[in-house]
Order: sequence, then structure tokens, then C-alpha cells
Amino acid sequence: MIISKAHRTRAIGIFDSGIGGLTVVAEILRQLPNENMIYFGDTGRYPYGPRSREIIKKFSRQNINFLLEKGIKFIVVACNTASAYALEYVKRIYSIPMIGVVKPGSEAAARFTVNGRIGVIGTEGTIASLSYQKALKKINDSFKVVAKSCPLFVSLAEEGYIDKPAARLIAKDYLLEIKNKKIDALVLGCTHYPLLKSVIGSVMGKGVTLVDSAEQTAVAVKQALGRLDLSNPSKKAGKTRFYVSDSPGKFKILGERFLGKSIGKVNLIDINAY
Ligand code: DGL
Repeated sequence: MIISKAHRTRAIGIFDSGIGGLTVVAEILRQLPNENMIYFGDTGRYPYGPRSREIIKKFSRQNINFLLEKGIKFIVVACNTASAYALEYVKRIYSIPMIGVVKPGSEAAARFTVNGRIGVIGTEGTIASLSYQKALKKINDSFKVVAKSCPLFVSLAEEGYIDKPAARLIAKDYLLEIKNKKIDALVLGCTHYPLLKSVIGSVMGKGVTLVDSAEQTAVAVKQALGRLDLSNPSKKAGKTRFYVSDSPGKFKILGERFLGKSIGKVNLIDINAY
């Protein structure tokens, strides 16, 4: 297929349950500064972590329908829970190329591990879906995978409790079980967990490599755009536009912390119309 220059300059569409996916946006901005992005944060229906597979599939379809209306060229499912529960499903429905965060995170963990013992932490939905466990086993059936949901980490990150004693206490409690299993790589399988990297790292100790799925996803986006001949040829800095389904003001304030940059206008949309 011949792809026009106009098509290549189109935006990458990204969605998440709220602000967490901004950790993926931050990495794409760092690795692909000339790409335009349209970000949708489903703040009105956040959180996705404790919800069922069926509802996450429905939400993901609506989020993609909204992004498609914006004329995008590629989709990134930045939410781990949505990637875990709905990526394979939406890939069968839509023809636009898309990637999630589970495969890139798993592939990186497989590269980093030496002893073949890998830990995965995420929301209840992500861990219950067994997506990371299956993706890792598919890469190498002899891997020993230990998975644990750490739901409070999401609130800690959102409340800015990233280096307080309370965060350390909770991290110790959650991670002890995994630590005892002698893993040497730990996948941070949730958008929010990269913010807690330093506390998670100090609890796990030096021998454990933390795999940031946001960082690995940006690497995978770059490779996919190159392979599909979809990279933006423009040398100018790309623009990112933000949309949410509730509370744009709160998204802006919290989002700037996740993104590490100022966020311009945040647009409110009715996601139930899609
Ligand atoms: N974005 C979600 C994830 O990565 C975390 C927040 C939520 O539960 O919606 O799984």
C-alpha cells in the first residue's frame, strides 16, 4: 500500500482510563518528538483496574471510535488493564494498526532476566486476565512468572505519595511475596507504577531490574511506525491534544505531574455518544 505524506503526518491516537497513560505519552514525546498525538483519558469512567473484561471491551471500543473520528494513523492502548482485557478483541474489529503495553513490557522483561524468574505487578484486572503471564510463557515456556496485583499503588501515585513512608510500607507489604521468589526482573504492569519506581526499586533491591512498560511501549511504537512506513517525516516538534470524559481541570493539574510538562487546553467530550 502506498502511504501519502499527509497520512504520515496524522496523529497517533492514545487512550487510557485517565491520567496514567501520560507516562506513555511522556516516553513517546522523548523518543518521537516530531509525532502528533491525540490523547483520550476516560476520567469519567476511571478506574478500569477493578472492572470486568466485558465492560473494558465496551469502553475500549468507544474510546477507539472517538479517536478514529479524529483521523489518526495508529492507536496505542496505553492502559494496561485495557491492553490485557481488550487489545486482542479490538484488533479483530478495527483495521487501523494498534499496539498495547503488555507485549512490549513482556519482551523487555524476557531480555533482561538472567535467571528466568520474572515478577509482574498490575491492577486486579491486569493480573486476573493472565495476559502478562501468557505473553511471557509464549516467549519462553521455562520462565517462572510470579504475579501480584497492587491496587493501592494507583492511589499513591495519584495522591503524590511517591516517596513518603506510607508508600514504602505498602510497597514492602505488597512486594515481599514476590521478592521471596528470587525474581531478577519485575514488570511495572500499570501506567501509574513508573512514578513509584524509586520506592519499588529500593524495596526489591539492586538485583532486580524494573521494566517500565511505558518506556518499552514507546520503543515498540517507534519500531511499528517505521515498519509500517507511518513515521511523520516532519522535522518540527509534534503537537499533543488532550480529551477527557470528565473533570478537565483536575486532569490538567494531575496530568502535568505525570507528564512532567505543562498541558495546554483539555477538551471535555461525551464518550457515551460513541
Ligand atoms: N491505567 C490503569 C492501568 O494501567 C490504571 C488505573 C486504573 O485502574 O484505571 O491498568
